[in-house]
Amino acid sequence: MDSRFDLTIRNGRIVTDTEIIDGDVGIRDGCIAAIGPELPAGLRDIDAAKKWVLPGGIDSHCHVEQLSGMGMMCADDFYSATVSAAFGGTTTIIPFAAQHRGMKIPDVVKDYSERARTKAVIDYGFHLILANPDDDTMTRDLPEAIRGGISSLKIYMTYDRLKLEDIQFLDVLELAREHNALVMVHAENNDIIKWLAKRLIERGHTAPKFHAVAHDPLAEAEATNRAITFSRLVDTPILIVHVSGGDTVGLIRSARTLGAHILAESCPQYLFLTAGDLDRLGLEGAKFCCSPPPRDAQAQEAIWDGFSDGTLATYSSDHAPYRFDATGKLPKGDQTTFKDMANGVPGLELRMPLLFSEGFLAGRIDIHEFVRLTASNHADLYGLSPRKGRITVGADADIAVWNPARETRITYSDLHDQVGYTPYEGRVVKGWPEIVISRGRIVIEDQQLHVERGSGQYLQRGAPRLSWPEKKAPLHGQGSFIKSAMAAAKGD
Ligand code: URP
Ligand code: ZN
Ligand code: ZN
Repeated sequence: MDSRFDLTIRNGRIVTDTEIIDGDVGIRDGCIAAIGPELPAGLRDIDAAKKWVLPGGIDSHCHVEQLSGMGMMCADDFYSATVSAAFGGTTTIIPFAAQHRGMKIPDVVKDYSERARTKAVIDYGFHLILANPDDDTMTRDLPEAIRGGISSLKIYMTYDRLKLEDIQFLDVLELAREHNALVMVHAENNDIIKWLAKRLIERGHTAPKFHAVAHDPLAEAEATNRAITFSRLVDTPILIVHVSGGDTVGLIRSARTLGAHILAESCPQYLFLTAGDLDRLGLEGAKFCCSPPPRDAQAQEAIWDGFSDGTLATYSSDHAPYRFDATGKLPKGDQTTFKDMANGVPGLELRMPLLFSEGFLAGRIDIHEFVRLTASNHADLYGLSPRKGRITVGADADIAVWNPARETRITYSDLHDQVGYTPYEGRVVKGWPEIVISRGRIVIEDQQLHVERGSGQYLQRGAPRLSWPEKKAPLHGQGSFIKSAMAAAKGD
């Protein structure tokens, strides 16, 4: 038997959880077999001198081949989405198998699995979107899906077609508590948004920029506060997705200080775009229209602070790919109002290059924070550790070799999604993942894709691995009430 490594990455700056090692990574049978100085030659060697050797990214919030809350189909399927992700240094994605009203989870998961299996080029797991919490779903299908490796689900507090009532939200938290699942929450107050939108439209304020007015930061703050309250009441962790600014970061920070189990995520659009981008000529602003919307420079600072002090645990793309045509952003042509257009911006490919350039190289975060925010925290929270998210012996060899000196002027024609534009057109970023490796396979090299359609693997995920800062003040104790009430109800 040949005991040589299949691949050796040489002379790189390797970032592990705790240290930076100048040396080599030896890869055998798809896994990291050794890390250290002067490892023996592999069947193939890659020279990584002057390069950063980082874990492949995990994007735990992206919409792929999915029907949206407004009933629109994404522009990216599992092939274009995973190719695009890989070109940007991401080696695992977790998109959403979306249950809509009237649908059963087993059908949703079967359909989504079939779509992914023949197309994905990198590994993937699924979250669920839960919009039909009927008896079968709550007593049988959801627990079964969690046990089967879909250990997280997203619920919505807005969008008429998806939103849960508060009482359903509480039921979901109780179920998640019992079955050890992580509940992701889209926190915006539906009625505030509808109330503002109606008044804006009545007054003829229909342009994309009014999307940001209708989705007022207070709508996000109110819903976030309610979600935190529910989480504390039932004593169940939640993760607030796509946090857009200071009000929400502050609420989450305070709740965590109390010892509440609140996690949170933010995304490139809240660091690198503002509501001003929605105010472009004609309907161009629709290209920047997502929910919650990008805010302002102060909100961007609040997001950076949230990443720095650990209030925000993950940095995901919320890739929600809709074309600038009748299939997405312009369903009513030039008569489209901000209420009609698909919500969401693309970001799978540029998520990591933007943060590497503007976060790490610009000195706002260090390289360990970059790794945590783009990979290892996702692996822990979504039950992929120790297999994914870290450069460590025994883990899958999911690695990106970053050239920190390479400058790229972003232009859509160089990207690999199906959206037709990028909100980051014309920006210059420094640093790029030149070689991307998934389970030891070179996926991207010399700006070419080197793996087959359908060669990505489905990841059955384990329970979330959650850790909390020490409690600074006693929580109000409702959690123990719920525990004893539930025990009494079960006759324990
Ligand atoms: O505008 C957004 N974020 N669209 C995608 C769907 C969602 O709510 O995450
Ligand atoms: Zn959302
Ligand atoms: Zn989303």
